[in-house]
Amino acid sequence: MIKNICCIGAGYVGGPTMAVIAQKCPHIKVTVVDLNEKRIAAWNDKDVNNIPIYEPGLSEVVAEARGRNLFFSTEVDKAIDEADMIFISVNTPTKTYGVGKGMAADLKYIELCARQIARVAKNDKIVVEKSTLPVRTASAIKDILEHTGNGVNFQILSNPEFLAEGTAIEDLFAPDRVLIGGDTTPEGQKAIQALVDIYANWVPKDRILTTNVWSSELSKLTANAFLAQRVSSINALSELCEKTGADVNEVARAIGMDSRIGSKFLKSSVGFGGSCFQKDILNLVYIAKSYGLNEVADYWEQVIIMNDHQKRRFAKNIIKTLYNTVSGKKIAFLGWAFKKDTNDTRESAAIYVADDLLSEQAAVAVYDPKVGEEQIQFDLNYLETRSESENQKGVQVMTNAYDACKNAHAIAVLTEWDEFKTQDWQKIYDNMLKPAFVFDGRNILNKEELEKIGFIYQGIGSR
Ligand code: UDX
Ligand code: UDX
Ligand code: ADP
Repeated sequence: MIKNICCIGAGYVGGPTMAVIAQKCPHIKVTVVDLNEKRIAAWNDKDVNNIPIYEPGLSEVVAEARGRNLFFSTEVDKAIDEADMIFISVNTPTKTYGVGKGMAADLKYIELCARQIARVAKNDKIVVEKSTLPVRTASAIKDILEHTGNGVNFQILSNPEFLAEGTAIEDLFAPDRVLIGGDTTPEGQKAIQALVDIYANWVPKDRILTTNVWSSELSKLTANAFLAQRVSSINALSELCEKTGADVNEVARAIGMDSRIGSKFLKSSVGFGGSCFQKDILNLVYIAKSYGLNEVADYWEQVIIMNDHQKRRFAKNIIKTLYNTVSGKKIAFLGWAFKKDTNDTRESAAIYVADDLLSEQAAVAVYDPKVGEEQIQFDLNYLETRSESENQKGVQVMTNAYDACKNAHAIAVLTEWDEFKTQDWQKIYDNMLKPAFVFDGRNILNKEELEKIGFIYQGIGSR
């Protein structure tokens, strides 16, 4: 029976997942550790609304379990030493250097964790991969752990996370399935059972799936590749709809009613973002190539190519519609996060659209209910397209939609936040330059209503 869990990495995956495990299993002590002191301090903030991750329902779960059996700490070694089970939930960004640059996952944080566990562990441990990892990472971790020479036995499990940001708590409370991969040996099966028993505290048994390690690792990449492919597929059709006069929303509805296709993940948009889709597909492509499977690699790479095209053509269309120049024109961005109900901006389409418009000398004004100036500047600076001072000059960040849209030539909706639907659109219109354009990159606004006010409205995938 597991009594003591340690999770390395207090991010978007580790934080919410451990909070829910602690809430559902009061008999297990859960310690989440991170090297980032600021992040840990925020998780421990007396005011539970100041935790570093915005997720509906998360602060309530943290409030209930924190200090009882949920702890946040920077003492990594101590937590590893005390734990029977260690989750690795550190980030695995795409490599920005060397072999596999821009494609392969950077495993240096994972390797550091494995070496740290190897150094510190004095008794047998179950190590659980929670981060999304390329297939066969478990075997690399195993290699490192088994060569420490201190006689400790390790079992490595793969337990990929399927939660989506913005609905993380719902997804953790009632997952479609929990996937656990482990060794086929008796010791491996015992380790699998230990983790099954934890989830069984709240997840129905028939939703807990066990497989071998490789199937589990590959399933995570495949699930994200299939989801992203649906978005790219409908986005590819959106461009054709704009040319032909078909309406992508009507098409999505019509095909989604076919039970073999299903209605979810068919929302045409300015392009998918988030920390997973692009990274996981690039990973899949890289793995396929490394086995010489070029057709397989090209097939999946097309999903990314389509997504890049969708972001780029959104920016291009704004420029073209504003009489082929946005130089010196104020463009208001509603939304910066990669989807609603999260403060995460990783790979958000907004970053790339802003980058293109800034290169055309537009003045961008952003309002996002959960993302502030520091993050927005960080995201743009990360691209290294221009100097930090130029980004600073080019982008203003506002605390409400009305200020962002004041004196703007055009509005671009980049994130589908609910509050954008219920703004006083007449008031926004009155304070804009005319003609006043709206480019709805999420198809969330009411076209007829906006046109009645006087806006020139363009959604995605319809004329
Ligand atoms: C298809 C559409 O399903 C139908 O809605 C449309 O009206 C006509 O085209 P059909 O070609 O008769 O129907 O058969 P379908 O069941 O779709 O199978 C098409 C091919 O895909 C078959 O060769 C089938 O063996 C193959 N297939 C289907 C797979 O290889 N794997 C699957 O999971 C499903
Ligand atoms: C995804 C997977 O859904 C989750 O299972 C996995 O664990 C992590 O990656 P996440 O990235 O948090 O989750 O969000 P998701 O809801 O999948 O959306 C990803 C992107 O696709 C967002 O930018 C979203 O706006 C976009 N999207 C999604 C669309 O443009 N249209 C859709 O129909 C659905
Ligand atoms: P994810 O979305 O995968 O959760 P995040 O970047 O939000 O990714 O979180 C990963 C966390 O892991 C970060 O807070 C980072 O500081 C932490 N981390 C990375 N490497 C280590 C390590 N060796 N020891 C402890 N924490 C680490």
